[in-house]
Amino acid sequence: MPLNPFLLLLSSFLIVYFVTKWRYRPCGKKTLPPSPPKVPILGNLHQLSALTHRSLQSLGRKYGPVLLLHFGNKPVFIVQSAGVAMEIMKTNDLMFADKPTSRTTDKLFFDSKCHAPRPGLDVNTGDDIVAGGTDTASATLEWAMTELLRHPAVLKKLQNEVREVLEGKRDITDSDLEKMHYLKAVIKETLRYHVPVPFMARVARDNLKVSGYDIASGTLVIINAWAIGRDPASWSEPENFEPERFLNTPVDFRGQDFGLIPFGSGRRGCPGITFAMASVELVLANLMQKFNWDLPDGRKGEELDVMEHPGVTIHRKNPLFAIATDHC
Ligand code: HEM
Repeated sequence: MPLNPFLLLLSSFLIVYFVTKWRYRPCGKKTLPPSPPKVPILGNLHQLSALTHRSLQSLGRKYGPVLLLHFGNKPVFIVQSAGVAMEIMKTNDLMFADKPTSRTTDKLFFDSKCHAPRPGLDVNTGDDIVAGGTDTASATLEWAMTELLRHPAVLKKLQNEVREVLEGKRDITDSDLEKMHYLKAVIKETLRYHVPVPFMARVARDNLKVSGYDIASGTLVIINAWAIGRDPASWSEPENFEPERFLNTPVDFRGQDFGLIPFGSGRRGCPGITFAMASVELVLANLMQKFNWDLPDGRKGEELDVMEHPGVTIHRKNPLFAIATDHC
């Protein structure tokens, strides 16, 4: 029987079609984290307020500690738990050694070169890095003073410690600071409760799994250190300012305790940590030693607001006014 050329052509097409489909089928379904519903063009951007760290915390409470959001059509992994942050910044440190360069995400979340040069500031990089470090250190002091004024018992306890260690001496040395355990606890609690730089960013160098989820090469991962500092899974009574939680514990902010990562962690963690802490400790100890502190107009501590101004570094929204009187 002669072969029908039409049938021959059709069967060749079908063979080519099925073979191609089989060869290029997606290799297994990807496991992705929960994703809040998105809208066309914006993706999930409409769910983020100017205080993005707080919007993400709320989404995390609803959907879980790892989220997949879309900024426009760009997928972004959001991490808001200490354990998953450790998987990114320690277990897979090398795979996440890159930071993003995209200008959109820069504007939304952070300066890609970290908090060092502030967006729009056109000065040489060396000066910029120190200026950025000063900005974060001043935010830390601003929040520390805010919480001390809001908690007069903590302020008194800290002043007593500083003055007892110094025994009337005016100049403060490194060895004096070493003895001020409560001072260090107050600073740690400030950095937990008011993480000055809320976001750390990484880009996946290759496809990998984190916390059971598939992350594709090139995906942006954002770690919300601010939300981790207030996560009840890591901290008891996280919304209370209690420096005592840091007494008699080795928990520290140097990047090994992932519930407290105000300086990030791993090979892209903050290199200015020792310098920053030395300045914050010295300034705060001086403020405690040399002055007594009150709020203006006889206002009570709890009346002092803690409203935040959005930015790469989170500062107070309203300036902090306090009355300093000399302590002889
Ligand atoms: C309280 C003060 C400071 C805080 C809270 C802070 C926080 C941070 C954070 C969260 C990062 C990103 C880390 C990561 O992605 O894992 C960072 C990076 C960085 N910090 Fe700081 N920082 C402070 C002070 C300083 C100072 C004083 C300097 C310099 C004198 C400095 C220089 C840098 C630089 C250059 C980077 C970029 C590191 C990189 O991308 O590899 N920081 N800092």
